[in-house]
Amino acid sequence: MTADALFSPVKFGSIELKNRIVLAPLTRNRAAPGNLPSTLAATYYSQRASGGLVITEATQATEDGQGYPDTPGLYSDAQVAAWKVVTDAVHAAGGKIVVQLWHTGRISHSVFRPDGLPPLAPSAIAPAGAVYLPGWQKADFETPREMSQADIDRVVDGWRAAAANARRAGFDGVEVHAANGYLIDQFLRDGSNKRTDGYGGPIENRVRFLKEAVAAAVAGWGSGDGVGVRLSPHNPYNDMKDSDPATTFTAAAAALKPFGLAYLHVLEPVGTSPALAPAMKAASGLPLIVNGGYGAETGAAAVAAGTIDAIAYGTLFLANPDLPARFAAGAPLNTPNPKTFYGGTEVGYTDYPALAS
Ligand SMILES: Cc1cc2nc3c(=O)[nH]c(=O)nc-3n(C[C@H](O)[C@H](O)[C@H](O)COP(=O)(O)O)c2cc1C
Repeated sequence: MTADALFSPVKFGSIELKNRIVLAPLTRNRAAPGNLPSTLAATYYSQRASGGLVITEATQATEDGQGYPDTPGLYSDAQVAAWKVVTDAVHAAGGKIVVQLWHTGRISHSVFRPDGLPPLAPSAIAPAGAVYLPGWQKADFETPREMSQADIDRVVDGWRAAAANARRAGFDGVEVHAANGYLIDQFLRDGSNKRTDGYGGPIENRVRFLKEAVAAAVAGWGSGDGVGVRLSPHNPYNDMKDSDPATTFTAAAAALKPFGLAYLHVLEPVGTSPALAPAMKAASGLPLIVNGGYGAETGAAAVAAGTIDAIAYGTLFLANPDLPARFAAGAPLNTPNPKTFYGGTEVGYTDYPALAS
């Protein structure tokens, strides 16, 4: 088995990928003051432009969406200008880049919010665990405030405004972050959504916030063909639970169908059984990117089997800026260093060596 199947081009909506190897979204907590992507980010992302698609780190669509230190945003003109430097660098290196847009919901803290109030969530249920405050001090999660209709309307509109900003910043599209226990996922799963209004209860209601966020992103981008969505049906991260993931996530995928989107991105680790991603692809009618623990051979085998269109690589691409070249050559891989994943300098960020350098 070789990695050949990963090297054919493919088109997702309006985005042309030169191969099936995608940089998974990776939070790196190195943003500059003002939640601006740093100048190092242009180097980091352009180093990885040989992938078919670069997905950025999760980026705040609205100022109050932050939940970790030093993560970038896309709600201010200064952020648009700083991201333009990044997209220009990736394009100059021959790559394509979309920005992952999030709101962290209850995975936040009042110190991150301009109003100084506790975080927003579908329901007033504090997650188990701890939040990192600016400076990396740990604190217990606060009990979030149940979002009012006005809160919902304002936050949803953030995906519209940020998607419009993404176009101005030169991105090839946006990825709506509906995975990993952040705000949209908190609405989807019944462990975190106990609402009794039109956004809670049966799955038709729990997908409503996702639909509104995606509609807003499509409106801001100007069409669906540059908009992707990430879902994580099995991921318990951030204290997430659902009583029936197969039903919830098939319905969430089906809800995307009317929008004419670019792709569906599913975090479903290699070997997960039963795999939900194929049914989610069928329900959405969209090209499918999967992610989670894949290597060259497992990724190529998954694409060769026909249902999966591309593989997103997280930690391997983090540590190997030239991951496609290494896969093609069957070359050894650098080992990721978790100590430098979150925060810090160029060490563990832009200094992983490429082959023969
Ligand atoms: C350092 C780090 C940061 C991450 N940040 C994000 C993020 O911003 N958005 C997201 O959707 N997933 C994020 N993830 C999850 C990855 O995208 C991916 O799902 C995970 O690493 C599993 O893929 P892998 O086995 O190829 O690494 C992060 C993972 C790591 C290790």
